[in-house]
Amino acid sequence: MHHQSTDLPTSGVLLGKGQAPGKVILFGEHAVVYGRPALAVPVTQVRAEAFVEPAAPGEGLLLVAQDLREEIRFEGAPLHHPLVLAARLTLAKIGLTEPPPWRVVVRSSIPIASGLGSGAAVSTAIARALADAAGQPLSLSALSAIVYEVEVLHHGTPSGIDNSVICYEQPVYFVRGQPPRTFSIGRPFMLAIAYTGIPSPTRDAVADVRRAWERETARFDALFDRIAAIVQQAQSAITGGIPGSLGLLMDENHALLREIGVSAPALDVLADAARRAGAGGAKLSGAGRGGNLIALVTAETQEAVAAALRAAGAVDVIATSVGEPQR
Ligand code: PMV
Repeated sequence: MHHQSTDLPTSGVLLGKGQAPGKVILFGEHAVVYGRPALAVPVTQVRAEAFVEPAAPGEGLLLVAQDLREEIRFEGAPLHHPLVLAARLTLAKIGLTEPPPWRVVVRSSIPIASGLGSGAAVSTAIARALADAAGQPLSLSALSAIVYEVEVLHHGTPSGIDNSVICYEQPVYFVRGQPPRTFSIGRPFMLAIAYTGIPSPTRDAVADVRRAWERETARFDALFDRIAAIVQQAQSAITGGIPGSLGLLMDENHALLREIGVSAPALDVLADAARRAGAGGAKLSGAGRGGNLIALVTAETQEAVAAALRAAGAVDVIATSVGEPQR
């Protein structure tokens, strides 16, 4: 996967542009749906980008998903198409009642349906590009609210963590219903993000956990409380500049997610392989069942861990550094 830069569009006239990073949840997924805190960070190695150019005469507003080779005419499009919804909410927010005659081209290097937030990043890039073209930049909270609404379409009852970390492009300590808080990173650390190749069905996993919580509320609340305690310890370790202690916390969080029922054989195999190859710890990240595993690595261990993850079945491994200065 390569970072793509926003080139000038084919027409040579750039009216506006926008972009957004991917994200990964470090600690606290699932428990965050039940009011416990979670930590997430942007993954800047992968990005979604959108640019706006004038449409050809008669085209009206056109949304072009370059990677999917999909072109959608805004007028007459199904209202609930995610790209159309992102555009519609943005135009309403900036007060454009008539769709402008623009061609909005979007592309992304974020793997789709992999738990890296590709949907939220694509919505963010489109909203930013439209607002930029209209000369009316959106506040971060307005942008995040638009992206949240599009996420509701995908996931039903998202906690709001994806839109927050992706729009703010900062590490986020997130509690549902509260404004996101950013936190400082005392010392940068590295993660290997391994994709199982199994699409991560966020909506289904969240619904299954809810049914299990309804059956065994006290047991699940106790598991969520233990995850919340790990989140607090992890935040102190990150801010205090002792990321080495995150490994054990990742292992503990993974074990609790297994108890909750959202791990999968493929994730457990990858976690073991990463630990054996020298990772400080490993856990699933996001909805689970498939999706991603994250492993704590260093400059010394990252190659061996990435090779072990691939050998154990990962279809893609991204190395990311958390807390390095933004480009
Ligand atoms: O798979 P992702 O990265 O979309 O993460 C889902 C995280 C959950 O906590 C399971 C759900 C949510 O909305 O926070």
